[in-house]
Amino acid sequence: MSDALLKGTNMHKPVFDSNEFRRSLGTFATGVTIITVRSPDGEPIGVTANSFSSVSLDPPLVLWSLAKNAKSLPAFQAAEYFAIHILSAEQEGLSNLFASQGADKFGNLNTEQGIGDTPLLDGCCTRMQCKVAHQYEGGDHIIFVGEVVDLVSNDLTPLVFQAGKYSLAARKTDDTPLISSSSSGFDEDFFGYLLWRAYFQFQSEVNKQAPFRGFTSLEFLILVTLAHNNWRAVDTLCDMIVHDGDHDLVGQALESLVEKGLLQEKADKNGFKLCGLSETGNEKALELLTIAKSTESTFLERLGQKESAALKNLLKGFIVETDTGIPHPWERTEGEA
Ligand SMILES: Cc1cc2nc3c(=O)[nH]c(=O)nc-3n(C[C@H](O)[C@H](O)[C@H](O)COP(=O)(O)O)c2cc1C
Repeated sequence: MSDALLKGTNMHKPVFDSNEFRRSLGTFATGVTIITVRSPDGEPIGVTANSFSSVSLDPPLVLWSLAKNAKSLPAFQAAEYFAIHILSAEQEGLSNLFASQGADKFGNLNTEQGIGDTPLLDGCCTRMQCKVAHQYEGGDHIIFVGEVVDLVSNDLTPLVFQAGKYSLAARKTDDTPLISSSSSGFDEDFFGYLLWRAYFQFQSEVNKQAPFRGFTSLEFLILVTLAHNNWRAVDTLCDMIVHDGDHDLVGQALESLVEKGLLQEKADKNGFKLCGLSETGNEKALELLTIAKSTESTFLERLGQKESAALKNLLKGFIVETDTGIPHPWERTEGEA
């Protein structure tokens, strides 16, 4: 036996520590599952696991492993059946719940009963009911191999886990340049350009379908903002829409909307200048919103459901990270109550 082998075992002594091993395993992106079982005394039991893997197509076999110190281990070792739920992006909360030892995991959940009275959860990408085929020792875990006896799948966006964090999966787009790879600064890899271009393509499509002509992007923003939340302080609208302290442009857009009969202005009891949509303005704004929503659906359908979820998630993350406190359209500020 070589020096590198541990006495009495066939195992090599690791040349890395367990934190490094854990970190390295985390570089492997996985989905997230919840595995459920009915305990011998009739309790519903479940754990979050990302050790799930496919094993064989014929017969249909899958595996996962459970830590020997998991409270649920005896229930899984005793069971004839278990169910694997591949979680959707909406189920991050459920994943955290089932990863908490001692939590009341099933208290507020509606479950169905599966084979062997196994508790079944809803809203996942795939649900597989399995008959236990084998159990193996696997270091500090027990490996369960299950034969899949029933399954249902949906085309939902899956929850992904990588480097200890939840992620979303998105198809990688080709590395093909949009046009060229000049690097003068204002090129296709410049985030500012990508944001502007994406917005421009979206806005042009909305404008093409708009029920009336001759409104500017600013006017569009004012109309849809007020359609969401009418009678706003002029100052808030200015902060929300131009962001740079130059309120003249918004002032001109407001005047133009008043002239078109779409907007009205008034002062509140404290003298704050407010503006709100007229009846016609409200109708037009709602029409514009409907067109914008349908343009969103068409565009995002082209991109794909999972990519759209990932894109929105990244944009929200970007907005949160770089937020300078500009009010959101659905927030009311002081003086607007
Ligand atoms: C994303 C994620 C994946 C996990 N994967 C596993 C796993 O594959 N095996 C395991 O034993 N524990 C895994 N855990 C930890 C268990 O879910 C956690 O220890 C749980 O408390 C075990 O439940 P129990 O002790 O109530 O049986 C994972 C946790 C998370 C958040």
